[in-house]
Amino acid sequence: MPRTLVTGGAGFLGSHLCEYLLNKGHQVICMDNLLTGNIANIEHLQGENFKFIKHDVTEYIFIAGEIDYILHFASPASPIDYMQLPIQTLKVGSMGTHKALGLAKEKKATFLLASTSEVYGDPLVHPQPEEYWGNVNPVGPRGVYDEAKRFAEALTMAYHRIHGINTKIVRIFNTFGPRMRLKDGRAIPAFISQALMNKPLTVFGDGSQTRSFCYVDDTIEGIYRLLISDYNQPVNIGNPHEMTLLEMAQKIIELTNSQSSIEFHPLPVDDPKVRQPDISLAKRILNWEAKIPVEEGLRRTINWFRNLRDWSKTQSDNT
Ligand SMILES: NC(=O)c1ccc[n+]([C@@H]2O[C@H](COP(=O)([O-])OP(=O)(O)OC[C@H]3O[C@@H](n4cnc5c(N)ncnc54)[C@H](O)[C@@H]3O)[C@@H](O)[C@H]2O)c1
Repeated sequence: MPRTLVTGGAGFLGSHLCEYLLNKGHQVICMDNLLTGNIANIEHLQGENFKFIKHDVTEYIFIAGEIDYILHFASPASPIDYMQLPIQTLKVGSMGTHKALGLAKEKKATFLLASTSEVYGDPLVHPQPEEYWGNVNPVGPRGVYDEAKRFAEALTMAYHRIHGINTKIVRIFNTFGPRMRLKDGRAIPAFISQALMNKPLTVFGDGSQTRSFCYVDDTIEGIYRLLISDYNQPVNIGNPHEMTLLEMAQKIIELTNSQSSIEFHPLPVDDPKVRQPDISLAKRILNWEAKIPVEEGLRRTINWFRNLRDWSKTQSDNT
């Protein structure tokens, strides 16, 4: 039975990952300081093969016994979170990744870094292949996240080259699904909550900026395939189906049968105009592509939010 550590395991993606790995027969250790995560995301996983450790991964990580895999997902991830927590974001991307890689070296574990499409910044190449180096403003408000992840990638490759650690880097594009927090500032939960309350949907700019949204089950499957592959360079995981944010808002109004209107608000600083993964590499080496259509993923996510009796349960203690 593989023994696996998931940092950031009480967050949105981390909790889905813990669940997936348990189903694959792993013994899972979930480490999280609950900065933006929520214990409610992992309550249902408690059992003999699952252990939660409350710990800040920027501090030395001690775990007794063997570890086969480390998946490093700890980091604030939504723009609202990392702009409110800029120093914690830089620390977890740098010091947290250092500590997690140090543990991988000690345990001779396979290490997977959760990186992001944000390493491409406001891209000048479209769609974005892994070879594109990106267009990031290092001193803008989003730089704290983008540069933390770029540093984390560089550190991961250094540990691979110098210490021979079996490392993987997944560049995750926008993912959505159950367990997102309503107020994390990302478009889909914001639109869904506004639509369910029949309040105006807030679209930034004129809504013509595009994003490519992938349903969480597909993203997790792609991450797992990368984990067990023998590939060590970064791989994009995302759904290439590109939509404008205005189209997304209209689709959510339609699927929720909402009476909401759409309100336009000023565009945030350095907001990327386009975002679409080139997933040729993932198709070739992982035989992976997203299978769940965006509309189906939206239906499942809307149902999950509808069935939540207490919306406050989607909030973390700190944000
Ligand atoms: N959701 C997406 O669309 C997306 C896209 C690209 C990359 N990612 C990456 O995936 C990972 C998870 O993102 P998410 O959407 O699940 O976000 P999330 O905020 O739901 O989860 C992040 C988790 O990390 C924990 N954490 C933060 N700092 C920590 C620290 N110092 N020590 C221990 N735990 C800490 C938080 O408490 C939280 O549980 C992040 O690394 C993010 O950069 C996510």
